[in-house]
Amino acid sequence: MAAPIPPRDRLIVALDLADVQASEAMVAQLGDAVTFYKIGLELTYGGGLGLAERLIAQGKQVFLDLKLHDIPNTVARATGQVARIGATFLTVHAYPQTMKAAMGALGASPMKLLAVTVMTSYDDADLGESGYALTVSELVTRRALQAKEAGMHGLVLSAEEAAAMRQTVGPDMLLVTPGIRPAGAALADQKRVMTPGVAIAAGADYLVVGRPVVQAPDPRAAAEAIVAEIAAAARA
Ligand code: C5P
Repeated sequence: MAAPIPPRDRLIVALDLADVQASEAMVAQLGDAVTFYKIGLELTYGGGLGLAERLIAQGKQVFLDLKLHDIPNTVARATGQVARIGATFLTVHAYPQTMKAAMGALGASPMKLLAVTVMTSYDDADLGESGYALTVSELVTRRALQAKEAGMHGLVLSAEEAAAMRQTVGPDMLLVTPGIRPAGAALADQKRVMTPGVAIAAGADYLVVGRPVVQAPDPRAAAEAIVAEIAAAARA
């Protein structure tokens, strides 16, 4: 059994801010309250890879949410490049070829690969329109099992799916869940949300939180409150 993850390291703050400068200001404001940051597509295309390198040099952990999907050779080479940056997590879409190629490119790198099963913006009708005969829930389960078979380290999934997927894939895969809202926080565009404590109790290992921290009047206090809630849920 792996050592428990310290509660503070289980909070991943999504740097969904206008640009690198605003992101660096937020990181400075959060200080040692936050140890782990997620950089997504928008910031990546706006200089976010350089930011990732600077954060890693400062001792922070970085989740590069790049959602890779291409032919195996390209996925393998891109994964190798991201591993050299020193990211802790990288996402790839949960297609068997893509996952195998990415896993095969890790070599001795400690980077962990997370599978994106089905985008939460998709419902059954969207899947049908894309040519799939499966429901969202069937496809999530199928891809979670394929991710496990490919040796992937974890899954990104809504907190709502966490308890069921923990049963499906067993104890060893990391479950990383966005859609987290502390009690009383604004929902914004997230419809299916859980509080940090409930998500941890449902089996989530890491929580991805954006707006409830970066748009809070006091981001540092908001992060500390989430860490406290994670710690309390982990003790329960
Ligand atoms: O601001 P909020 O806490 O909703 O941000 C959640 C983060 O997690 C965003 O970066 C969003 O893109 C990401 N995400 C999500 N739902 C998914 C996958 C990723 O909200 N299914």
